[in-house]
Amino acid sequence: MTGIADEDRVLIFDTTLRDGEQSPGATMTHEEKLEIAELLDEMGVDIIEAGFPIASEGDFRAVTEIARRTRNAVICGLARANFRDIDRCWEAVRHARRPRIHTFIGTSPLHRAIPNLDMDQMAERIHDTVTHARNLCDNVQWSPMDATRTEPDYLCRVVEIAIRAGATTINIPDTVGYTYPRESAELIRMLRARVPGADTVIFATHCHNDLGMATANALAAVEAGARQIECTINGLGERAGNTALEEVVMAMKVRHDILPYRTGIDTTKIINISRRVSAVSGFPVQFNKAIVGKNAFAHESGIHQDGMLKNAQTFEIMRPEDVGLKETSLVMGKHSGRAALRAKLSDLGYELADNQLNDVFVRFKALADRKKEVYDDDLIALMRDSAATGAADRLQVKFLRVICGTEAPQSADLILSIDGVDQQVTAQGDGPVDAAFNAVKKLFPHRARLQLYQVHAVTEGTDAQATVSVRMEEEGRIVTGQAADTDTVVASLKAYVNALNRLVVRREKTAPGGDRREVSYRDMA
Ligand code: KIV
Ligand code: ZN
Repeated sequence: MTGIADEDRVLIFDTTLRDGEQSPGATMTHEEKLEIAELLDEMGVDIIEAGFPIASEGDFRAVTEIARRTRNAVICGLARANFRDIDRCWEAVRHARRPRIHTFIGTSPLHRAIPNLDMDQMAERIHDTVTHARNLCDNVQWSPMDATRTEPDYLCRVVEIAIRAGATTINIPDTVGYTYPRESAELIRMLRARVPGADTVIFATHCHNDLGMATANALAAVEAGARQIECTINGLGERAGNTALEEVVMAMKVRHDILPYRTGIDTTKIINISRRVSAVSGFPVQFNKAIVGKNAFAHESGIHQDGMLKNAQTFEIMRPEDVGLKETSLVMGKHSGRAALRAKLSDLGYELADNQLNDVFVRFKALADRKKEVYDDDLIALMRDSAATGAADRLQVKFLRVICGTEAPQSADLILSIDGVDQQVTAQGDGPVDAAFNAVKKLFPHRARLQLYQVHAVTEGTDAQATVSVRMEEEGRIVTGQAADTDTVVASLKAYVNALNRLVVRREKTAPGGDRREVSYRDMA
């Protein structure tokens, strides 16, 4: 098999559903994973890493279903370097039109110490496991985890073994986000020059963003001959995340003069998928995030606006429509009808069934009653809010009234429905949000710790909606909750309750017999 059929074509390998989803708190439901996989396929991603099948029943089911449904992309599953993982992975991906097994082992001195293998034993393990994977599937990717901190001679040795054993893609991970662009390029160049058989495989680059260099490192690797970039939407991923898909793709498009490479990505789908991933993962996108941040195309200062009016290229290196951003417009008011709402939502990337539209329409009317002008961003916040709450939720907010002012303490009267039974309480706190959260705790005692509480105004004006994100942790389970409302305290309460509902689901899944995540890819077997 030839490694690089088309010299200029860079394959995009998306791992939002595997490396991204393993980010603490970013857990997605089964349906959400299927939806994201479909959007990735539609936007032209070449390879979708759909999960880590041995990790849990949920991961296995998701990878299997994505493999069955996906029309174009290669569907890949992750497996550690043992036969059990690889067999389980194959069981899930084999349903795909184009399956791939991705197997890996940590090769740096620190990682070799975990399974307690010496260099020769590890080399043998790599030979055996890649051979096993290749006997099952003719598309096998192999990764030496922590490659950038592996001794170069040993790295060359194990890459050669993997190639001889039948790997078709060799991925070079910068697992801890340690490398620098020049080094990233040199590593790929060295492997291509020194390893026999290197010209028969595709080299991939997989970078983490701990030092903020993931995009630069991935592009440097491409310049040195890597032809697959592993990345995630919004750069989602553990710690500081992975290479952001939108950044590498747009860099190659906008700076085609110095990065003369092509991808198969339809860039006009970027904004929509970015919003969906943010909504389902509960990870807000930083306002000034490149390409997909709320301010990425905003021209706030007077000088900029003046320049923009004369010639958009004065301060713009890409057009908003290139990434699928439509001009923010005044949407509708309280007299707008159902058909207009459906059309607007469809424009924003939300296709709704009739019953969903009815529910959203009621919420839209309530919002339009409270807020004179409803903008695109308001509708997006409303859609996220609708997605976050459901009739099946165990906890539902029925009523809240807070009394606040300059004199502490503040107090909250709350009615919360728990398993269908309304319960009422009054609680005090240091501020109205604290009082509301204390009221919830009185009615639904729990030991979850609030790790993050974030409020953003969706639009300008004092009647703007607030979106609130909270992250909570209980015995290692991390969940996020989101909500939007024109009242910041109500939005905070709803986000808190949303996180608790997710926690209840997680508790059930991790109870004995539930969908426990048995292993992490960090646990080496
Ligand atoms: O960062 C990493 O090393 C990984 C591997 C499993 C490829 O995600
Ligand atoms: Zn990774």
